[in-house]
Formats: sequence, structure tokens, C-alpha cells
Amino acid sequence: MRISVIGCGYLGAVHAAAMTALGHEVVGVDVDAARIAALSDGRAPFYEPGLPELLAETSATGRLRFTTDLSQIAGCAVHFVCVGTPQKHNEFAADLTYVDTAFEGIAAYLAPGDVVVGKSTVPVGTAERLARGLEEVGATLVWNPEFLREGFAVQDTLHPDRLVYGLPEGEAGERGRAVLDAVYATPLAEGVPLVVTDYATAQLVKVAANSFLATKISFINAMAELCEATGADVTALADAIGHDARIGRKFLNAGLGFGGGCLPKDIRAFMARAGELGVDQALSFLREVDSINMRRRVRMVDLAREVCAGSIVGRRVAVLGAAFKPDSDDVRDSPALSVAAQMQLQGAHVIVTDPQAIENARRAWPDLVFAETAEAAAQDADVVILATEWREYRALDPVRLAGLVRSKAIVDGRNVLDPAAWRAAGWTYRALGRP
Ligand code: UGA
Repeated sequence: MRISVIGCGYLGAVHAAAMTALGHEVVGVDVDAARIAALSDGRAPFYEPGLPELLAETSATGRLRFTTDLSQIAGCAVHFVCVGTPQKHNEFAADLTYVDTAFEGIAAYLAPGDVVVGKSTVPVGTAERLARGLEEVGATLVWNPEFLREGFAVQDTLHPDRLVYGLPEGEAGERGRAVLDAVYATPLAEGVPLVVTDYATAQLVKVAANSFLATKISFINAMAELCEATGADVTALADAIGHDARIGRKFLNAGLGFGGGCLPKDIRAFMARAGELGVDQALSFLREVDSINMRRRVRMVDLAREVCAGSIVGRRVAVLGAAFKPDSDDVRDSPALSVAAQMQLQGAHVIVTDPQAIENARRAWPDLVFAETAEAAAQDADVVILATEWREYRALDPVRLAGLVRSKAIVDGRNVLDPAAWRAAGWTYRALGRP
């Protein structure tokens, strides 16, 4: 099929390449000329494992191109809208400017019978409004939320754990379904579960899933607070409750909590939308989920202060990690950077390192000081903070690192180090939710 992808960020760039890999002919469009130049060159404009290989493979087919010229979408039968919906300034609600601009922009190039597929995360009710706007041109809207995780985006796009179609009623819905079935013929043939539903449900599925994940993380972080008050160990607690198949061990890793461009803003936009719908009470628990999550960052700074004998003023602090999670260079609402910045504001000399995200981190926080390696960051440190659990940080040798720092103190913000090994090497080891 001939497909266009509007918006080539973390979602759209991967989607465009993946749709090519599934055998389609794809044009990706973005307003960011630098991003399009990189993609046109077959280079990934951000760090995502597997994407460079996928781009190389799919660019070579001659069926994938990228452009800043929206008119190039004319002639495509399917148009995926993959633009961002960030949080509004000073408000919980989602900013729909990019979505609205995309829909206004594509309208001029649509032909009757085209199918427009919404992938952006939007407040429930948005699809219904956008569909009305497409009626005039005779195009059909399908809402097809995306569940990819950064770091696993290629795998999640080519082999999703489910597909959801939100369809209008009647013939338009049937047409929308047939077109998406053709687009996703390969994953569907592999047995990927498909849920076919209405617009409202499809939009809610996405925010409900992210809210559940956020709640699971904040639940275990609340347990971490209890563990800290009682001398219990939250990692053992998570292992034990995780053995119950109804609970499951995934997303029960206590620590610095969730960040990124999705979970934090999605739960807030969901609360804002519930308020508009007059059902704010239904989601008031998400306010608590958010608060628990934010408290972890404060607690992290407090722990660092404790190991620095009550004051971080003038202390040298090495922060390992800037990305919001490993295997990503994304620093949007990164707990690691939030902790680093708080400590710097409180008078510490903070040096941040990250294997992939330094450039983005420097752009977001130009006043922070960065080092290329963990060793360089840890040089003469009074305390080392593990904030993002990159593989190389999990594998750090406590004996070797001991030779670099001024004071052997480490705070494990992700509960991934072996306390016994670090203590045996003479370190003061502290963690969130562990004795
Ligand atoms: C999340 C969802 O997992 C995806 O399904 C969804 O498609 C995506 O948002 C989106 O809406 O686009 P992502 O933001 O890539 O994906 O990251 P996650 O893997 O969900 O991690 C989110 C945050 O939670 C990270 O900061 C991570 O460190 C933290 N986390 C995760 C924990 O603190 N503990 C855990 O046990 C798991």
C-alpha cells in the first residue's frame, strides 16, 4: 500500500521504516529539516536500538522516502498521524496544536476514500472531532493507538503485543478496517491479537494502559516508602508479590520513578480530560500516583545529603544517567536530570554522564556540567548517584571505581546494584526502599 506518515519523531520515524519493512511504499513527512535530512540519508536522528539497521535495510528498498513537503502525501491511500501531544504550559491538559495542524495540513491532499489513521495520544473525544473535519473530503478516520516503548520501538512496531482499531460505524468503518487489515497483514498473520472497537474506547485504551503502568510503578514506590520506614527491602517485596501471576513482576521496579515524554504527561492529560467530562473523581487517584512519583526525586536528593553527612553544599556529585530510561537518548521529564538539577540548585558540584543522552541533556539543562564517561564523572566524587540503569552502569566494578572517588558513597536510584558487592569493596551503599 502507499502510505504517508506525518511526524517523524520517536514514533513516526520508526513507524515509517517498519511499514516499509512490512512491504509498503512509504513517505515520511516532518517540519524539522535536520531530522528529514538525517532520515533521507538513512541515519536515525535519535538513539533507538535497531533503528539504524532497519533504516539501512528499508532505505535500500527504494520504497521509503522522507520529505518536509506535505504535498508529497498526495496519492497515498493511508495517512498515519504520529505527531506529539505534549503537556500544555502551566496546565495538565494535552496541547493538541501539532495534531490539529497536521489534520488541517493534510486535508488539502486527501482524496475521497483515503484512510487517515490517528496514532498520537489524545484526550478522548478528539477523534470524533477530527473525523467530522474529514467528512468534507470523504476520508475515513481510524484511531489506532500506539504502545511502543522507547528502547524497544522497532520490535514493538513490527511485533506489537496487540493492535487496536477504533472505527466509525457503518461502511466507513468497514473500509477503515479492511485498509488497516491490509497494512498490518503480516503481524495479523503472526497472530497478534486485534481489538476492534469504537473511537472513544480506542482513545481510552491508550491512556488507560499508560495510567495502569504509572500506577504500578507508583504502587511499588509507595511500598518503598513503607520499606524505608520499617527497614524492609522493597526488591524482595516486589519479587515476592510478583510471583503472584495476577500481580506479575514487570513494572514493579522501585526507584526514582517514571519520566519520559509519555507516562507523566499522559496521566495529567487524562485527569484534565476527566475533569472536563465531570468524572474527575474517577481519576483522583492519579494525582496520588503523580505525587508518589515526584516524591522519589526529592527522596533521592535527601539520601545523597544523608550520605554526605547532612550537606551537599560544595560536594562533588557524580550522576550516572541523564536519559529517562536506559537505551534511549530521550531526556523529557527525566528523573535523572531532575535530581541532578535539584542538587546543583542546592549548591552541589554536579557532573552528569550518559552513554547517549548528553547532547539532549545539555540542550535541556545548559547549566549542568557533563562528562563523557562514568569514570570521568566519578573522579574525586563525594557521592555517586546511579540515576538511569544503563547496562554499563549496572556492570561497574566497585573496586575499580573506589580508586577514583574521594568518598566511597553510592546511592542506587534504580535498585540494580548488588549491595553486598559494593559494601564488600568498602562503599557506603544506599538505595531507595532498601535497608
Ligand atoms: C511508555 C509505555 O510503556 C508504552 O507502552 C507507551 O507506548 C509509551 O509510553 C507511549 O505512550 O508512547 P516509554 O515512555 O518508552 O513507554 O517508557 P517505559 O518503558 O514505560 O518507562 C517509563 C518510565 O518508567 C521510565 O522512566 C522507567 O525508568 C520507569 N519505570 C519503568 C520504573 O521506574 N519502574 C519500572 O518498573 C518500570
